[in-house]
Amino acid sequence: MKLLLKVLGYARNLWPYYTGIILFSIFMSLTALATPFLIKEATDLMVAALQVPQPDIMPVVWVAVAILFVDVLNTLFTNVGGYLGDIMSAKLKKQLSERYYEHLLKLPQSYYDQELTGTIINRLNRTIFEVTNFINMFANNFFQMLLTVVMVIVVVGIYSWELAVLLIVVYPLFMWLTALTSKKWQNWQNEKNLETDIASGRFAEVIAQIRVVKSFIQEQLEYRHFERHYQTTIDITHRQSRYWHDMDVLRRLVLNSIFFAMFAYLFAMTVQRHFTIGEMVLLVQLVNLSRMPIFSMSFLVDNTQKAIAGSRDFFNVMSLKPSVADKSHAAALTVPKGNVEFKGVSFGYNKDDHVIHHISFTADAGKKTALVGESGQGKTTITSLLMRLYDVQKGAITIDGTDISQVRQVSLREHIAVVFQDPALFSGTIYENIAYSNPHATMTDVENAAKAANAYDFIMKFDKGFESEIGERGLKLSGGQKQRIAIARAILKDAPILILDEATSSLDSKAEVQVQEALDYLMKGRTTIIIAHRLSTIAHVDKIVTIKNGRVDEVGSPSDLAKTDGIYSELLDLQLGTTEKAKKALEQYDIAS
Ligand SMILES: Nc1ncnc2c1ncn2[C@@H]1O[C@H](COP(=O)(O)OP(=O)(O)OP(=O)(O)O)[C@@H](O)[C@H]1O
Ligand SMILES: [Mg+2]
Repeated sequence: MKLLLKVLGYARNLWPYYTGIILFSIFMSLTALATPFLIKEATDLMVAALQVPQPDIMPVVWVAVAILFVDVLNTLFTNVGGYLGDIMSAKLKKQLSERYYEHLLKLPQSYYDQELTGTIINRLNRTIFEVTNFINMFANNFFQMLLTVVMVIVVVGIYSWELAVLLIVVYPLFMWLTALTSKKWQNWQNEKNLETDIASGRFAEVIAQIRVVKSFIQEQLEYRHFERHYQTTIDITHRQSRYWHDMDVLRRLVLNSIFFAMFAYLFAMTVQRHFTIGEMVLLVQLVNLSRMPIFSMSFLVDNTQKAIAGSRDFFNVMSLKPSVADKSHAAALTVPKGNVEFKGVSFGYNKDDHVIHHISFTADAGKKTALVGESGQGKTTITSLLMRLYDVQKGAITIDGTDISQVRQVSLREHIAVVFQDPALFSGTIYENIAYSNPHATMTDVENAAKAANAYDFIMKFDKGFESEIGERGLKLSGGQKQRIAIARAILKDAPILILDEATSSLDSKAEVQVQEALDYLMKGRTTIIIAHRLSTIAHVDKIVTIKNGRVDEVGSPSDLAKTDGIYSELLDLQLGTTEKAKKALEQYDIAS
């Protein structure tokens, strides 16, 4: 319950709504309670009228008019209150979602490494839905219901404390019985949620990679997987529903007995003239008025439990502290030259399991430095550390002598442009994707960047040019096209430090040569860190740093390293060797044909 109040406290600015809802709920309860009194009044009038030979009908007609008036008022109050409740919960939903999203965006890369995308999104939807749904129902129904119950008990108590005591007993008893059932029911429900989560998670994966599924003819297998999990939910529902309804019969029997006691008492007392007919009619109505909420109680208990669980999840995520955080008073980074230096850097994705060991090297200002090494040696990791997506565990990284852990992250990333190994683009137009790195760019800037990335020609071949939609709703780009858009995006950022992680790996040799020209132009005067497997890409760099098992193996110019027998010369031999072999194979093919 405390958690739910904390949720309301989160949106203190909504207090006018809270007040309005409370006021209208009171009005609603009062008008709902007025009708039984008016009917009592009518009964009294009728009993009196039946004593005289020629009774006047007008007094009872006026009571009927009063009932109409009260009913109309009740309708108005209910709807205005309902409107306020809807708006309040919609606003609450917006605020909670925004806070959640804002907070998630601040969390470090390591959080996203651990959690599945689906899980993060599901959690956002589920927790916020459950919390706001409960608050909406509470505002529109439950609160008014609880108020009415309290008023009924007070009024009944004035006429008969015995009846009031029975009513006071009924509520907690029924709530307790429901809560008992609800716990077990909820466990089954969680099992069912888990099954559907697994099925839907796999479903989403299958849809996203349908080509793989089809090519390995695994549709049937995937379908059966889906079907099996849903079948399990049916099996659970059998037990769950059976249990719920058994318990419901029991609960209602208890309830029916208590109401039997109330009516028997009421009727007997009336016959013994302790109550007038009018009072009896009033009390019967009040007791009936309190019956409805009892059945909604189970609903209330159920939804409260869900909402509490939901808000607990919400606050759990909200209390995660970003582990990569700006120091208080962290200054903005300035990059006069662009000298990047790694000094004895060690890092592991898990604390004890280092991927990178004591790495030291410099990427000189305005020069090209290549990182060379076999797959999985830690090259991409080194670039992530430079962007401070993770904090180093030992050593330091400096830019022009400033330790990057001491400056604001935003100012650091402003100075680095990256072409990622996997050129992820967003849905949206080509224009939007290129301008993503610089929202102030003009159309001419974007076109120039596209030209420099050798992407302009293929973009103009699309019907809508730069306005072509890509991604889910639009056209699909080839791997090489995506890569060139990603290069254009980096070009447009115009940052002094440039990271190219396999930037040309999806291009054919001809396109690579063209893009290489663009990149050469781009790299001029910028500190560039290049990761490439193809040696042609790095033949003209100023410095090569070879990485082996997460350590720096050799550092030197391409010509220096070609002479040692380190990784670079090994790769050189391998790639030249394969080219020669290929040539020979082709020659033989020529002779044969
Ligand atoms: N997010 C992550 N969480 C845990 N381990 C990771 C993560 N990313 C990479 N690794 C591990 O760190 C090591 C280095 O990975 P990295 O991506 O830096 O290699 P790389 O040199 O860029 O390889 P490639 O040439 O194939 O791109 C690998 O053993 C990999 O399994
Ligand atoms: Mg990599």
